[in-house]
Amino acid sequence: MNVCIAGIGSYVPDKVLTNFDLEKIIETSDEWIRTRSGIRERRVSKDNEPTSDLAANAAKRALESAKIKADEVEAIIVATATPDMLFPSTACLVQHKIGARRIISFDISAGCTGWLYALTIVESFIKNGYDNILVIGAEELTKITDYTDRSTCVLFGDAAGAALVKKTDEKRGILSTYYSADGSYGHLLQQPAGGSRIPASHESVESKLHYLKMEGNEVFKVAVRAMYESAIETLKKVNISSEQVDFLIPHQANIRIIEATAKRLKIPMDKVGINLDKYGNTSAASIPVGLDQAAKAGRIKKGDLILLVAFGAGFTWGGVLVRW
Ligand code: UT7
Repeated sequence: MNVCIAGIGSYVPDKVLTNFDLEKIIETSDEWIRTRSGIRERRVSKDNEPTSDLAANAAKRALESAKIKADEVEAIIVATATPDMLFPSTACLVQHKIGARRIISFDISAGCTGWLYALTIVESFIKNGYDNILVIGAEELTKITDYTDRSTCVLFGDAAGAALVKKTDEKRGILSTYYSADGSYGHLLQQPAGGSRIPASHESVESKLHYLKMEGNEVFKVAVRAMYESAIETLKKVNISSEQVDFLIPHQANIRIIEATAKRLKIPMDKVGINLDKYGNTSAASIPVGLDQAAKAGRIKKGDLILLVAFGAGFTWGGVLVRW
């Protein structure tokens, strides 16, 4: 018995914020943003459009693509760093919004690696008898972005991607996974206030501690190493070389990190899924959105070996190898 992605879907809000729009509100340039990050534009959710809305829309599309009805779903996991609120979980809100039965529903927090972390939970659920699990990566990073901080506000966007994961007798699905984390780097990428360490207060808001903070340069150095490690360790477990990989979908933080990873793996860029040019860094959503785009564009076909690698807040990192 194998565990496969039977359906995939994604959703992004309509509003586009381009680099040229950002030039009008902060001291930056389209040229700097494109050359330093690869991003041209990103999507921004409406004030009354929380993460669970994006997640529910992506989930409905994944169900359609898998030809599964909402009442057949047996579990919902949402990976997010930007839930609607600290509790209830976004997954519970999605369960209600899509009209699923009273099923196990919870969020996980593993930064940009969240969706890949969620896949391993799903894998063990399915091996323990569950089936038809929705695994969703959904983020509204623009809601925790400080639009006076040019070092972060040009990077992030809103999106959701979802997969319907189920058991299969076919020789396809998840072949290998690898995960790691190192909390000593936590301070380099964080949302300091709003939790138990610095509860929300006038002071925390005035000091802008409810916004995402990142030491980009320091994060960059670790990200390049960790993305490569994730790929190599994932492949090593099943004795597959990077040259055998048909398509790579990396987390979308920076085109330079992606290019460096692909180069070290000897995977040409025409076999790499890119969505950060249009959507920016969408954290836990970037990989399922990338999978959906690649599937719809016919860039991945049945039987292909697809490598997914991510790195994010925690720090967390990991990889998943899938036979499509
Ligand atoms: O998603 C999870 C993990 N996240 C990542 O992996 C992100 C990793 N980091 C990065 O992608 C990059 O570090 C950034 C894109 C965030 C920044 O690129 P960088 O090449 O590391 O730039 P930097 O932070 O070293 O800044 C270089 C210069 C600085 O000016 P000085 O000190 O050299 O005069 C910055 O002030 O660029 C300046 N700068 C900007 N200039 C124009 C920073 N942000 C901007 C901006 N526009 N938006």
